[in-house]
Amino acid sequence: MKSLRRPKNKKRMAPMVPGGWPLIGHLRAFDNGKQSNHTFGDMADVTEHSRAGEVDVAFGELYRQWEQKGGSQKGVLVDMSQEFHDLIKNFSLMMIAGKRYYGASPNCEIGEAMRCGKLFRDFVDYFGLYLLSDLVPPLGWLEWRTKRDMKRTASALDELLEAWIEEHKKKRKDSVSGGNLLDLLLEVFEQQDNPSLDDGGHKTIKSLCLNLVLSGTQATIVTLVWAVSLLANNPDVLKKAQEELQRTIGESRAVEESDLKDLVYLQAIVKETLRLYPPATLTPYRVVMEDFDIANETFMFLQRDPNLWSNPEAFERERFLTSDREVDVGGQSYKLTPFGLGRMACPGIPLGMTMVQYLLARFLHSFDLATPSGQDVDMIENNGFANYKATPLELFITPRLHKSLYQNGSHRAC
Ligand code: HEM
Repeated sequence: MKSLRRPKNKKRMAPMVPGGWPLIGHLRAFDNGKQSNHTFGDMADVTEHSRAGEVDVAFGELYRQWEQKGGSQKGVLVDMSQEFHDLIKNFSLMMIAGKRYYGASPNCEIGEAMRCGKLFRDFVDYFGLYLLSDLVPPLGWLEWRTKRDMKRTASALDELLEAWIEEHKKKRKDSVSGGNLLDLLLEVFEQQDNPSLDDGGHKTIKSLCLNLVLSGTQATIVTLVWAVSLLANNPDVLKKAQEELQRTIGESRAVEESDLKDLVYLQAIVKETLRLYPPATLTPYRVVMEDFDIANETFMFLQRDPNLWSNPEAFERERFLTSDREVDVGGQSYKLTPFGLGRMACPGIPLGMTMVQYLLARFLHSFDLATPSGQDVDMIENNGFANYKATPLELFITPRLHKSLYQNGSHRAC
């Protein structure tokens, strides 16, 4: 397998961004007078305000749907997989470029939002596609149509990202800053006097944005859908989580990110979800094949290994408050590795955990939920590139808070 996948023609290398130095690559580009960890810290800080606003918009829309269906105690039936997908994609696009393409309230023309939304969906679909020619390269010609469509998607995305950069540059000239990642990157690269970045860091900015849209959203969506599915099937756990929210936040305001440190039961639920349903199932294969001399697949099943966990197949969130309270997801423990390990581990661990915990907390605080006809949610995995739930998560949801907390800006009204 390994030798089949290695490219024989060494001239066909991935395109390189010019200006990289030996060993440190492009890290120097972030030397803007601050240490690089401060620069990345700034990036995370400026995006915080947009997350709360996006939840206001999405949950406000769910509240309106419930009202339009008569505002019944039974609730309104919603496909929560789609809702979380749209919300997290908007989260990420707003953080990166100030764009909202998904859901009922895009912040650009509806036609543009639909075109761009489809472009990102196609990109993600093609990214995870298994091609026959990956395994048997001579048969590549059979897939000419797919490859042509892949190239068309890639060049349309390139045009879109160019347009984003131009738009942000123009706004910067007019001294209008949206306070998103693209604004920060342009600022960082404008301060460089590195002649090899003579394209103004264009390619680096485009690839960074694309990488974040892809890698930052899929795993977060997957985790949230599994967490809510587990809670729908375990009403006693759901009740305890909502009691914790009631105790900590009450009903007069929305959850804030600063509340998360006090929601220890909710944190344990998220860890247990990541143990049972790690979003990236293929990563351990790569690690095992290339770096470790242990049997294939062993790594993948560590998180349900009966030698490491008591009752490994059960949803026992309390383990992270008792026997396994020292086990964290940050790569210090080999028992729990949903973000990978070592040098290739996910660089977005704090942001990913914050996003999942914050969205879960706000959802459980804002809505009661029930499965259609009281049946259990099926927990079938799609066994694909990302470990999606194979079928949509359909739930009846009913608002729990006062109407004023489902309006735009309601997170600030407290
Ligand atoms: C619950 C949420 C998340 C989980 C479980 C997760 C998990 C992972 C895993 C397993 C990998 C591969 C590690 C490896 O190759 O060994 C990865 C890579 C990565 N993640 Fe995350 N991630 C999450 C959220 C995020 C977020 C929010 C961001 C950033 C905004 C992010 C950015 C990245 C990047 C840039 C990579 C590297 C991709 C590459 O190799 O090009 N992730 N993540």
